[in-house]
Amino acid sequence: MTTDPLVALRPWEAPEVTSWGRLPMNAVDRRSGALPLDGDWRFQLLSVPDAPVGGAWSSARVPGVWTMQDTADLPQYLNIRMPYPEFPPGSPTANPTGVYEREVDVPAEWAGRRIALQVGAAESVLLVHVDGRPVGISKDSHLAAEFDLSGVVRPGERATVRLTVVKWSDASHIEDQDQWWHGGITRSVLLYATDPLYLADVTVRAPYSGELRVDCRVRDTGGALPEGWYVTGELDGQLLDQDPEFDRANVEDERVSDFLGEARLLTTAPEVRTWNAESPELYDLTVRLHRADGTVADISRHRIGFRDVEIVGRDLLVNGERVFIRGVNRHDFHPLTGRTVSYDDIRADLLVLKRFGFNAIRTAHYPNDPTLYDLADELGFYVVDEADIESHDHAHEIADDPRYLNAFVDRVSRMVLRDKNHPSVIIWSLGNESDYGANHDAAAGWVRRHDPTRPLQYEGAAKLDWAATDDASDIACPMYAPLEDCIAHALSGEQTRPLIQCEYSHAMGNSNGTLADHWAAIEATPGLQGGFIWEFWDHGILQRVSDGRPAGRGGAGLYDNGVAAPGYRWAYGGDFGEPDHDGAFIADGVVFPDRKPKPAMYEHREIAAPLRIECFKHEGIVLGNHQHFRGLNWLAAVWELVLADGRTLTAPAELPDLCPGETAAVPLPFEVPRDGGEAWLTLRVTTAEDEPWAPRGTEVCVPQIRLRGPAVAADVAVDGRVEIDGEGRLVHPLLTVAPALSLWRAPTDNDELGGMAPRWRDWGLDALVRKVVSVREDAGRVTVVAEYAGTIGVVRHRQVLTAVEGGVRVEEEAELPEAFHDVARVGTVFETVAGLDLLEWFGQGPWESYPDRSTGAPVGHHSVPVDELFTPYLRPQESGGRHGVRRFTLSAPDATGLSVALDEPRQVSVTRYRAEDLATAGHHDELVPRPGCVVHIDAAHRGLGTASCGPDTFPSYRVAPGIHRWSWTLRVL
Ligand code: GAL
Ligand code: MG
Repeated sequence: MTTDPLVALRPWEAPEVTSWGRLPMNAVDRRSGALPLDGDWRFQLLSVPDAPVGGAWSSARVPGVWTMQDTADLPQYLNIRMPYPEFPPGSPTANPTGVYEREVDVPAEWAGRRIALQVGAAESVLLVHVDGRPVGISKDSHLAAEFDLSGVVRPGERATVRLTVVKWSDASHIEDQDQWWHGGITRSVLLYATDPLYLADVTVRAPYSGELRVDCRVRDTGGALPEGWYVTGELDGQLLDQDPEFDRANVEDERVSDFLGEARLLTTAPEVRTWNAESPELYDLTVRLHRADGTVADISRHRIGFRDVEIVGRDLLVNGERVFIRGVNRHDFHPLTGRTVSYDDIRADLLVLKRFGFNAIRTAHYPNDPTLYDLADELGFYVVDEADIESHDHAHEIADDPRYLNAFVDRVSRMVLRDKNHPSVIIWSLGNESDYGANHDAAAGWVRRHDPTRPLQYEGAAKLDWAATDDASDIACPMYAPLEDCIAHALSGEQTRPLIQCEYSHAMGNSNGTLADHWAAIEATPGLQGGFIWEFWDHGILQRVSDGRPAGRGGAGLYDNGVAAPGYRWAYGGDFGEPDHDGAFIADGVVFPDRKPKPAMYEHREIAAPLRIECFKHEGIVLGNHQHFRGLNWLAAVWELVLADGRTLTAPAELPDLCPGETAAVPLPFEVPRDGGEAWLTLRVTTAEDEPWAPRGTEVCVPQIRLRGPAVAADVAVDGRVEIDGEGRLVHPLLTVAPALSLWRAPTDNDELGGMAPRWRDWGLDALVRKVVSVREDAGRVTVVAEYAGTIGVVRHRQVLTAVEGGVRVEEEAELPEAFHDVARVGTVFETVAGLDLLEWFGQGPWESYPDRSTGAPVGHHSVPVDELFTPYLRPQESGGRHGVRRFTLSAPDATGLSVALDEPRQVSVTRYRAEDLATAGHHDELVPRPGCVVHIDAAHRGLGTASCGPDTFPSYRVAPGIHRWSWTLRVL
């Protein structure tokens, strides 16, 4: 039996116990001037929390989860299901428990001071001992815990700090978010000292009007507050006024309490520069606590922003403007550390988001690292700050379980207490996927009383009735709601609150189809205001293939461009031998695990364009400013005239001086040549100067408009021969596999989880059997009729091959029976000889695009090496497509090769992989590139949609049965 009282309490199975000995949360930042305790700590992993601590120590890095370090306990990925069968609040008997220990030399100059330990975050139960004495307990895995060590450690002496972290607990049941399970200390540990008289909290109210109010709470560990203390404040160097009404600190008979001092500082900022996500103006606020003799006892520094957030009718307003929420859900994630993220990591995340047009972050599904909020203030993001509550597997039972009441209120209130002074935080969220119960209402009541300045949201409450007015959510914030339902709600006349989806457009694999359609509707429908894409990260962990272990910090630099170095791979669920897991569902972000943007990001960037081409009228090109607050002077631009004949002309662009929402016509900068066929006008928009988030010259958007449609050019038939083999297949010196009909693609995650791919396999689309029906040859022209049989139907296919000047024209027709009512594609596939390594095309690009995700890819003359066309989605799948291709060449360095001209803009892909190569590989490193190219030309290609979690693509992007016709001409260069 253990004699340790903290262990004897078995706090890991007591949900009522949220903490013991823990100091109240507050908004005073103690990070600077503290003694950092990060680094290597002595470490041992116990198999159960009450096992005796042995004599054998290894070491572990703090901050860091042990599951990514050299221990037997590895990461496990589960979405909804708990990793063990015990009902809440139970936990399994086998319960990895990490014991971290180190010595700390307490500075001698801290004599007489109040000393506190801060543990940035530990999951899921933290027990603290110093020199063998129990100090405290904390739960709430994504917020800091502080403990007063004043009477426990002696300045000038060495103390032994032990942090015991129990992995599974009652708290795990409310931390059942869709992410890897880990154990350990994930944020920095530090020791700090203050005067016994100290600032216990500072609450800033900084509205748009510039009337600043700063409320300070003061305590003294010595007992009663001393006489005569006072607080001063400075805003950008200007002294603040004391609120005489509120100056209770020094007035004996009005003193509210002997032990709690309160003071209020006021000022009105002259000509206030207000904060918004486009122009995040910040002020430095310094609060000083003085002793009676004027000396400074404590200081708290803040960067504050003046702004209002309110809901008026069904609009969420920031500074009175109905802003669009172009959001993303972000986890604290890193492929080498799991959950520990540095300042540089977070900054890099936010720079990517800014550069791709995002203006909002939901901190899914727990308070993120404190640095996230500092940087969101500084770089400009609207933040939905979410409490660490998700009880997904046992949601219904826990929402009303009084044993968890403390935990709900504790987690929500601690988040608010920590983050209340950040201008970026505009909405509080009660958590995620935890049903709706009395525990939520209790937490909501606390927030509404404590911080009436911000709206509150909770998906689980609002989903019961989007139009309700009496639940715990001020916003209808559904997830993955069909677009038509959102529009219908906004038009119903029943809408009572803003509709901003907390999750939409699930970014798993090759995804985010119909994003542009969503935004067209959002921008056109009053009552719809945006949403948060699910999600930022693909949570792939860098794994050594040889022994299956996480690479850990040693893996730095062992990846590039979304791809892990040879010998490594991005692990997803199941790759660490977990018996229960949810596979690649963890890889559903708009960036790869190394933060390389997926092609969908370019789509988003264009949809969010601050400057747009509205239309082309006789007075010129109409430009519009689509921002809410900024003018256009931070942007520079160049016009491009793209002509089908291969020319791209450029001209400098003068941008008009437009306020948000304004439009103006500017003259067409070019004489459009009469010849040259199809013509497009592109505006390449970049940053005019360095922005805090991007250097000068960074591309911001590439709006485009068509000036002239294509000219019809007919191939000239010539006397010549088209060579075919005995099966009616084209024989060509540059082709190793002759053109054949293709109806299948390597299933995307959306295809698999949305149910299309299993159907396609049932139909036999992946293994159609070709049978020649007839071959007819007459001078220079061959007509081959074939049948492609699946299991439920036969597709009749006719190919007419004609010798034309310089090559062969291929006219095709496929007749899909009703049974094949929704196939992946209808088109041609062939393979080329090796050595044709460069693709040049006229069409949309340069990045990957698909029929329902092609807004961000302007028409132009593009050129990309074949090896770079492919997108390395974690689980290999259809990838690398280019939409709207009019013609292309595939060439060798000596300019030999082939060209293909298409009858109409078509979906084309050129990769090193056949669809079946991709469909049978689990990870990118299992793929063996073929020497030649696998080329697809599609008459029709199914959109991507988001059906892995949420709506499928729209019917208009699906491939209908019936007759499809397309043609193309192959020439030798
Ligand atoms: C949501 C959930 C997220 C994630 C997503 C699917 O239901 O809130 O945490 O699981 O689905 O990737
Ligand atoms: Mg969930």
